[in-house]
Amino acid sequence: MGFRGQKIEMISDALKSKFDQVIAHYPSKRSAIVPLLVFGQDEIGHVSGELVEEIARRVEVRPIEVEETIGFYSMLHRRPIGKHNFQVCTNVSCMLRGAEEIMAHCERRLGIGHKQTTADGLFSLEEVECLGACCGAPAMQVNYDFYENLTPEKVDALIARLKKGGA
Ligand code: FES
Repeated sequence: MGFRGQKIEMISDALKSKFDQVIAHYPSKRSAIVPLLVFGQDEIGHVSGELVEEIARRVEVRPIEVEETIGFYSMLHRRPIGKHNFQVCTNVSCMLRGAEEIMAHCERRLGIGHKQTTADGLFSLEEVECLGACCGAPAMQVNYDFYENLTPEKVDALIARLKKGGA
């Protein structure tokens, strides 16, 4: 709640008009749930309760149906996460090529564990299932970018670049 109990509107007008454009592309409104969640998360930083309600209202489903959809997608987050979200694959192909060492290295370098976020909000870390990048094992995804054939040195270079504000 904001000043004098007014509810603070977190969903911008730009996002609302984006939602209108996306929904118009689908013959069935409910087919737009995932793209709406992704666009909403991109703007807000996570999938907030307000975002779930807004999407449910727009595509004319119950909020629980939006919640159920969220559970299928590891890229959707219900809690705030860091600006750069490290998702390290530890499934078989990656595991056989050193994923556990990569995960441990990320934990040491970032000072956080699975599903944690650094105090400055810059990085989050999580261990995930196969990213579909097995040919480049060990692999990880940081937001929408893939990093393959990882080594501790490559991880260090990436962290240094992101700390400097690089993409
Ligand atoms: S097992 Fe890691 S990307 Fe497939």
